[in-house]
Amino acid sequence: MFLFYSHVFFMTAGLLIMTAVVGVARFLRRKQWWLKIHRPAGITGAVCLSAGFATAVVMVYQSGDGQFEVPHAWLGLATVLCALAAPTLGYLQFKIRSKIQHLRLWHRRTGYAALILTLLSALSGLFVAGII
Ligand code: HEM
Ligand code: HEM
Repeated sequence: MFLFYSHVFFMTAGLLIMTAVVGVARFLRRKQWWLKIHRPAGITGAVCLSAGFATAVVMVYQSGDGQFEVPHAWLGLATVLCALAAPTLGYLQFKIRSKIQHLRLWHRRTGYAALILTLLSALSGLFVAGII
């Protein structure tokens, strides 16, 4: 049960942080401090989702069930991939200035995708757990 609660804890934290990360980028970009929040919060969100992913994999392994046998698991994998791609692309736009337009576009796309997928994963997780 400890792993299940850890999974839910990290994923809920990840969802709240991702909402704040995208919210700051979308609505508070005029504030001078927006990137000071957006950047570390984005990395923290990705770390939370990765920790939640690791606890889920160990939880399912220990239960003896097959891995990645429910749609929730695949949705979760896509979520974590987007949540890792977004900060990587966000960081790269400061490093590879010649490709900035392209990197910005894909940073936005993966950023929005990460938020939407996190929300859908959380809903499908509640469903898999029989809560809704
Ligand atoms: C999971 C982490 C992250 C997510 C989900 C995310 C998401 C987003 C989104 C959705 C936007 C576009 C907002 C809009 O439509 O106006 C944006 C913009 C931006 N983000 Fe992130 N971000 C993340 C991490 C980072 C990191 C780590 C950095 C910097 C190292 C960064 C730098 C930027 C910058 C500079 C912009 C403005 C780009 C532009 O003008 O299009 N982001 N981010
Ligand atoms: C962002 C949100 C979430 C993500 C990205 C996510 C991701 C995952 C992944 C990848 C697995 C499968 C691991 C494997 O098969 O090896 C999994 C399993 C599971 N998750 Fe989540 N999860 C999220 C939220 C939740 C929530 C909110 C709950 C419940 C309240 C939940 C309940 C479960 C359960 C019960 C399993 C085991 C399913 C099985 O028996 O195969 N998840 N999750």
